[in-house]
Amino acid sequence: MILVTGAAGKTGRAVIRALKRREAAVRALVHRPEQIRAVREAGAAEVIVGDLFDAVLLTQAMADVRAVYHIPPNMHPQEIAMGERVLQAARDAEVALFVYHSVLHPQTEKMPHHWQKLRVEERIFESGLDFVILQPTVYMQNIMPYWRDIVEKGVYRVPYAPSTRLTWVDLADVGEAAAIVLTEPGHAGAIYELCGPDTLTQDQVALILSRVLKRPVRAEKMPLEEWEARARAAGLSDYARETLKRMFLYYEAYGLWGNANVLRWLLGRSPTRLEVFVSGLLTDKAR
Ligand SMILES: NC(=O)c1ccc[n+]([C@@H]2O[C@H](COP(=O)([O-])OP(=O)(O)OC[C@H]3O[C@@H](n4cnc5c(N)ncnc54)[C@H](OP(=O)(O)O)[C@@H]3O)[C@@H](O)[C@H]2O)c1
Repeated sequence: MILVTGAAGKTGRAVIRALKRREAAVRALVHRPEQIRAVREAGAAEVIVGDLFDAVLLTQAMADVRAVYHIPPNMHPQEIAMGERVLQAARDAEVALFVYHSVLHPQTEKMPHHWQKLRVEERIFESGLDFVILQPTVYMQNIMPYWRDIVEKGVYRVPYAPSTRLTWVDLADVGEAAAIVLTEPGHAGAIYELCGPDTLTQDQVALILSRVLKRPVRAEKMPLEEWEARARAAGLSDYARETLKRMFLYYEAYGLWGNANVLRWLLGRSPTRLEVFVSGLLTDKAR
C-alpha cells in the first residue's frame, strides 16, 4: 500500500492516476469528506479523511504502508511542522520509503514556500528513512486559470513581466516520475529535479498559444495590485497572498529554470513540450 498525502489537490490526483496505471494500491489522505470522490475517481483504493496535524489519524493512515508520498499543501504557513509530523509517523510505522514532493530550487530563501521545503528536506536526511526527493518546476497546468482570457480576448495576462523566464513541466510527467520512484527499485537516496524541455519567456509562451489557437495572443503583465484584489476576493489567505506575491517578484527578477535531462532519463522518453500540452487543452480540458 502507498499512502499519498495532500491527495485531493491537482498534484495528488496526478500521482494517484499514474500509480493506478501501474496497478499500485493507493491510500489517499484527504482533508475534507467532499474530496473523497475526486481521489476515488483518480483511482485510490482506500481513502482516509482528516488533518495532517492529527497524530491518531496519521498512525491509522500509515498502517501496512510500504511507501509514503508526502505532498505539502500549497502555500501553507506550517509546512515544516506538517512535514515533521508526517515524517515522524512514517518513522514510527517503519515505512520502507519516504518520497517527498518538494520544488525546483528549494534553496531560494526569498520564496518562503521553497525555503520551507528545504527545511523539510533537511529533516528527511536526518530521519534515517530511505527517501527520494522530487523537485518539480512550474506546472504547465498553471496556465489553465488564464485559459479563458487567452481564448476569448487573445491576452495571456500574468502577474509578472512578459520577459520572465520559466521552465515548465507537465504535471502528468511529474505524476509518472512519482509513480516510477514509488514502484521501481533503485531510487532510494535520490534527489531529482523535474523539468520539461521548454525554458521560455512569457512572450514566447504567448507565441506558442498563438500558433496553437491560430489567432494572435499577447503576453501582458497584470499589476500586482490588481492580482492582490482578485486574490483577496477569491478568499486567499494573507499568508498565501504574501507568499505568492514574493514568488511573482522572484520569478520576474531571476526566473525559475532548470534542465530536462533528469526527467528524460527517469521517464525513458522526452518530457512533454509546452506546445503539445497546450494543443491537448483544446481537446481535453480535464488535464
Ligand atoms: N503548482 C506548481 O507549479 C508547483 C510546482 C512545484 C511544486 N509545487 C508544490 O506542490 C504542492 C502541492 O500543490 P497542489 O497545488 O497540488 O496543492 P493543493 O491543491 O493545495 O492540494 C493540497 C491538498 O492538501 C490539503 N490540505 C491542506 N491542509 C491540510 C491539512 N492540514 N491536513 C490535510 N490535508 C490538508 C488541501 O485540502 P483543502 O482544500 O481542504 O485545503 C488540498 O486538497 C505544493 O506544496 C506546491 O508548492 C507546485
